Amino acid sequence: MRVLITGSSGQIGTNLALRLMDEGHYVFGVDVRPNTWTNRIETLLQDLSMPYGEFKGGIGQAVYPGKLDVVVHLAAHAKVHELVQRPGRALSNITMIFNVLEYCRENRVPIVFSSSREVYGDIHRYITEEAHADFAFTESPYSASKIAGEALVYSYAQCYGLPYIVFRFSNVYGRFDNDIERMERVIPLFIRKIQDGERVTVFGKDKVLDFTYVDDCVDGIVRGIQLLQRGGKTGHTINLAYGQGQSLVAMAEYVAKALGVTADIEVQPARVGEVTHYVADIAKARALLGYDPRTPLSEGIPKSVAWTRSHQAGM
Ligand SMILES: NC(=O)c1ccc[n+]([C@@H]2O[C@H](COP(=O)([O-])OP(=O)(O)OC[C@H]3O[C@@H](n4cnc5c(N)ncnc54)[C@H](O)[C@@H]3O)[C@@H](O)[C@H]2O)c1
Repeated sequence: MRVLITGSSGQIGTNLALRLMDEGHYVFGVDVRPNTWTNRIETLLQDLSMPYGEFKGGIGQAVYPGKLDVVVHLAAHAKVHELVQRPGRALSNITMIFNVLEYCRENRVPIVFSSSREVYGDIHRYITEEAHADFAFTESPYSASKIAGEALVYSYAQCYGLPYIVFRFSNVYGRFDNDIERMERVIPLFIRKIQDGERVTVFGKDKVLDFTYVDDCVDGIVRGIQLLQRGGKTGHTINLAYGQGQSLVAMAEYVAKALGVTADIEVQPARVGEVTHYVADIAKARALLGYDPRTPLSEGIPKSVAWTRSHQAGM
């Protein structure tokens, strides 16, 4: 297969690209910044949020390849709290999906769009089915950008027959997730702080989230790509997560256990714009894709800590 991945220098993009390449597929990456983990991924450096951006390489850069089988659109400003502080970045996310959809329409390529459990809002449901999204519950500019992105994808399917899969991810963690300093995510942040003997702050005592180990997430995406390649009904919206809730306090304790120390945990109220309870219903992913996530948080955290340590040792 020939796959274009936007956001190929990010966490999910790097893991997905390497898995596809290891399986013998051709991958072409597009990102606004170089990949800091590997030089194996052919990457075009391009800001995809330029209005009506032309999809061309600069001088000396890679140029867009010819016929592709699928575009996986992962590029985004991907941090909820950051977009509460800088809501203009939500608009960039919308421009990016628009530009990528135009590319897919012109070149007649199916799209995989990375949406988020944030589209459900903070609705305190214990299990969230795909049909439960109700956009009156929009919690944050990031959430609004994913809702708008999904809406654009559905409109392109409706008007231009564009085949798509929308995945709603949830707290993906694991290797390659700590290179963007300004937007350090909760698990790498906790690993770093607990390792350094620092206190960690949990925003939301009862906050329960569905943490997804990156290999499970990538496996679901690959299965989605395969489904698109098989044709058939060509529009699906699918939760992709582990399917179990875990509190942030429990997560911090798993990190401390994997490091062999005791965590110093401070609890503060949840921050504005953040979801405080989410557990995905993954029945659709199981039925449609044969998705079968393998890594509970209790096993994924020790893997993440081991990866962080080996990465630090190699620096
Ligand atoms: N990781 C998660 O827990 C999670 C959860 C829900 C949804 N998602 C979505 O999945 C996608 C991938 O997530 P990730 O964890 O790999 O994020 P990431 O931040 O690691 O990677 C995103 C990449 O997009 C690139 N990018 C940002 N702005 C760009 C622009 N203007 N032009 C080109 N590239 C640009 C960044 O440089 C980065 O490499 C994102 O769309 C995110 O919103 C992720």
